[in-house]
Amino acid sequence: ARPDIQPGRLEIERHPKPTAPPPSKSLVFGHTFTDHMLCIPWDILNGWGAPRIQPYGPLPLEPSCTVLHYAQTVFEGMKAYRDDSGRVTLFRPDMNMKRMNNSAARIALPNFDGDALLELIKKLVQVDKHWIPQEAGHSLYIRPTLIGTQKFIGVAPPSEALLFVICSPVGPYYPAGFKPVSLYATTEYIRAAPGGTGAFKLGVNYAPGVMPQKLAAKKGYQQNLWLHGPDHLLTEVGTMNMFVVLKKSGGGLELVTPSLDGMILPGVTRDSVLAIAREHASGKKKIPGLADKLTVSERPISMKEILTASKKGALVDLFGSGTAAVISTVDRIGYLGEDVHIPLEKDGMGPVSRPIWKELVGRQVGSIDHEWSVEV
Ligand code: COI
Repeated sequence: ARPDIQPGRLEIERHPKPTAPPPSKSLVFGHTFTDHMLCIPWDILNGWGAPRIQPYGPLPLEPSCTVLHYAQTVFEGMKAYRDDSGRVTLFRPDMNMKRMNNSAARIALPNFDGDALLELIKKLVQVDKHWIPQEAGHSLYIRPTLIGTQKFIGVAPPSEALLFVICSPVGPYYPAGFKPVSLYATTEYIRAAPGGTGAFKLGVNYAPGVMPQKLAAKKGYQQNLWLHGPDHLLTEVGTMNMFVVLKKSGGGLELVTPSLDGMILPGVTRDSVLAIAREHASGKKKIPGLADKLTVSERPISMKEILTASKKGALVDLFGSGTAAVISTVDRIGYLGEDVHIPLEKDGMGPVSRPIWKELVGRQVGSIDHEWSVEV
């Protein structure tokens, strides 16, 4: 068998002129990068080559290479946190490693030993540890990426690839404080289709969403609500998974999210929200502030059901979940010329988003002890 990723072969080239991290207050999501990056080459004959931590900078790429023509690229988003004592942690990084391998396989890019890559990511995070902002709501956003680099304009699995990891210090997604977003229920375009690539974290899933997002913005909404099929089933919001909370006629609340049917991205935050809600519902760990009677459902939910619930006053919370924003509540959905309003409370959150967000952030930053938080 050709060699897998070998952390033991790591070479480290320190940046000759390291820069000082900018003040945390000035950080805008995704614009600033740390001094170093991790690069691991792959080719069909030799497998994975020696990993290198080297100064962040341009990649040598042939203009003919496959990623530039056919979007042979997969990526991940994960975060590192640093607490007051200097302890650095990652949040459920094993899930990112698994998903990255699933994504790679979907577009015929090479697979790798996820534990080995994780070991190297930890090394990278240690090297640039001082770049992790410590303020509340801040973190280091880590972006592992795998691209096809063969110089070849035929459509085939590439014989050469490059796995690289860059890091970006980030502040809270909404710097002005928590702010609900408005959604345009998009009927002109779709994000994913059965048998397509919606369930994988591929670059190709994101570029086509930018123009519809501009259209939504022109109509006065911040993000797209992606629908599917003649029943206008809700699927995702912007680049996030989504949750709806309904008041049940018999009392109690139902937390609904579409099931992983092949079109939905299996989000780490999505899975964490579901796990927290189910722990509460089963009595394993009661979450302060969350309704006692809570049903957790992975099932289809249509715009018709949303409209009916809204008219009855049964639509009480709606939010997106993702690594970047964590939880993002929604206060308005524009659908076929009408606005549906979600009656959030003064802090911009609802009866389920608030307690779940608090618990989730606690488990991420380590103020709540949990096995999801992995020390670097
Ligand atoms: C997320 O973390 O919510 C994402 O999907 C990453 C985004 C910046 C594309």
